[in-house]
Amino acid sequence: MTVEAQRLEVIRLGHPALRSIAEPVPEAWFSSGRLHEFGRGLIRSMLEEEGVGLAAPQVAEELRLFAYWIPAHDDTPEIEPTVVVNPEIRIVDPELEEGWEGCLSIPGLRGLVPRARRIKLKGRTMDGSSLSLTASGFHARVIQHEFDHLDGVVFLDRMTSAQSLAFEEEWDRYMVDDPEPDDA
Ligand code: NI
Repeated sequence: MTVEAQRLEVIRLGHPALRSIAEPVPEAWFSSGRLHEFGRGLIRSMLEEEGVGLAAPQVAEELRLFAYWIPAHDDTPEIEPTVVVNPEIRIVDPELEEGWEGCLSIPGLRGLVPRARRIKLKGRTMDGSSLSLTASGFHARVIQHEFDHLDGVVFLDRMTSAQSLAFEEEWDRYMVDDPEPDDA
């Protein structure tokens, strides 16, 4: 399905696009092939980079959309790769939960980040239809991480302390028994 989509280059921290406020995707784009092609490119790049999320600003397009997917884990079923356009988030359960995060734009690093446990996501699909879902746990975390990218925020900004910051290899070796997160 994503075979013919173009692979996009993921930019790294230091590139100004990662610190900009992205613009809403204009209405006219929904009917154009351009949005589809770009969305499929985002999905392809996310999967090939072995990430669970990729936001448009991470490929230097300052637009409010992102791709994500949730691999099956324990008793949680997979959520197939999805593109969310012009998303809005409402926090349903404001209680914060710490969890590990990484980012394709900050390769090699992991850190503990507090995130709201449960959120409601609204937005559009690439076809322009509305999308609405409630997410919790890791699913909610990935969405909040991607949404932050649209406002120029990265997971390092959300850490309450740099104490847990670790390189992936050391993190794997010393810090976790049951690795769940991939870069997003
Ligand atoms: Ni990220």
